[in-house]
Amino acid sequence: MSDDRNDPEYDWDGYGFATRQVHAGEREDLTSGARVSPIAMTAGYRFDSFDDARSRFSGDADGLIYSRQRNPSGTVAERRIASLEGGTEAIVVSSGQAAITAALFALAQSGDRIVSTASIYSGTRILFGRSFRRMGIGVDYVWGDDSGGDSAGGSSGRSSGDDCEWERMIGPDTKAIFTETIPNPKNDIVDIARVARVAERHGLPLVVDNTIATPYLIRPFEHGAAIVVHSSTKFLSGHGAALSGTIVDGGRFDWAGAGRSYPLITEAPRAGVLSNLDRYGPTAYARAAREGVVNDIGPALSPFNAFLLHQGIETLTVRMKEHLANAAHVAEWLAGHPKVESVDYAGLPGNPRFELAQRLYGGRTGSVFAVTIAGGEAGARRFLNRLRVFSHMTNIGDVRSMALHPATTTHASFTPELRSRLGIAPGLVRLSVGVEDPGDLLADLDRALS
Ligand SMILES: Cc1ncc(COP(=O)(O)O)c(C=O)c1O
Repeated sequence: MSDDRNDPEYDWDGYGFATRQVHAGEREDLTSGARVSPIAMTAGYRFDSFDDARSRFSGDADGLIYSRQRNPSGTVAERRIASLEGGTEAIVVSSGQAAITAALFALAQSGDRIVSTASIYSGTRILFGRSFRRMGIGVDYVWGDDSGGDSAGGSSGRSSGDDCEWERMIGPDTKAIFTETIPNPKNDIVDIARVARVAERHGLPLVVDNTIATPYLIRPFEHGAAIVVHSSTKFLSGHGAALSGTIVDGGRFDWAGAGRSYPLITEAPRAGVLSNLDRYGPTAYARAAREGVVNDIGPALSPFNAFLLHQGIETLTVRMKEHLANAAHVAEWLAGHPKVESVDYAGLPGNPRFELAQRLYGGRTGSVFAVTIAGGEAGARRFLNRLRVFSHMTNIGDVRSMALHPATTTHASFTPELRSRLGIAPGLVRLSVGVEDPGDLLADLDRALS
């Protein structure tokens, strides 16, 4: 057995997904034999000696230093998520927003730019438009469809795009491409293999927010992504009790050959010290993000919340099966209801991304999607005020079903023009379908619609 308290007790590589979601990264308490990985509720760690302290700080020894950088409870979650996504190393932080910020700050600095798909979580768009802009990092949006070019005028009224739009947006200062696999809230799924090919042509890392799909549905590294981020507050945790975010390094991006500069990764921090790339190879990006951004800025995940996260992941497959079945059922039922104008769920026949949904997801595109109620805002108001099993709240991805009116909440700060371009109609309601009895969900929706 290794002396390193960070080392996993067992190697779970080669085991199936459901086995790894339970076991990968687990760390038994060797003193008591407690089977569940204990909560390491500590801010810091005692050094073995004067020399040990120096070696840990220099990185020559891999021991723990301080929980802002690494904590054993966080490490369980990190190893579990890295294993499920197929990455080399993960970093857990205090929220999804912190994960997106740290992931991109490790790549871009003032004067640099990022190209993103336009349909992304509203909080990410606000983050890009406010804090990123204030830090001097610009974001350019690709509006066109990226599902294969077959959805002109799609359900959100966006034009059919092609690679040319990506090419136009990418410039010499672009440092990354950002997208979501299943965008929140419109379920306008992205052909990430296609976006990854664009990224590859330009030597750019593709950063994918895989929050709604989770690695149960799709593993973006298998489609060419370089980095994956999560709001692990959502489906990975599943309980809705604690926020967390995760960054995963795919370990395959060619940082040295990219032809663009990534100083935190490829440059030696000072004379006589190797760059992260030379020192850590396939985990260089994760090292740079952890040491060079997360540890500096400090969005550490509480050990207690890390515990809740790795506990939650243990049931991911079980929950996802229920989420997916319920969501498909609810979407189909809503699509046939006379008080419903439209349902944005890519698994429904007639949706512009239906074929992509079949190809990527076997037709089941997560359990977060939008429904537009007849009667505009007044219709949405009546509907939301009458729901009971669906909780009226802002969150997605826990076992409870939830509903929200984006136009007056998450998207309220956007101009009417931007909302309209994003397809956020006055009657649109976002649903996150939980794991309750489907009959109760339909009865709740029926009562609210009638
Ligand atoms: C797709 C997506 N990414 C990121 C976030 C931000 O995550 P958090 O709320 O954990 O900061 C959210 C939150 O809803 C989200 O839906």
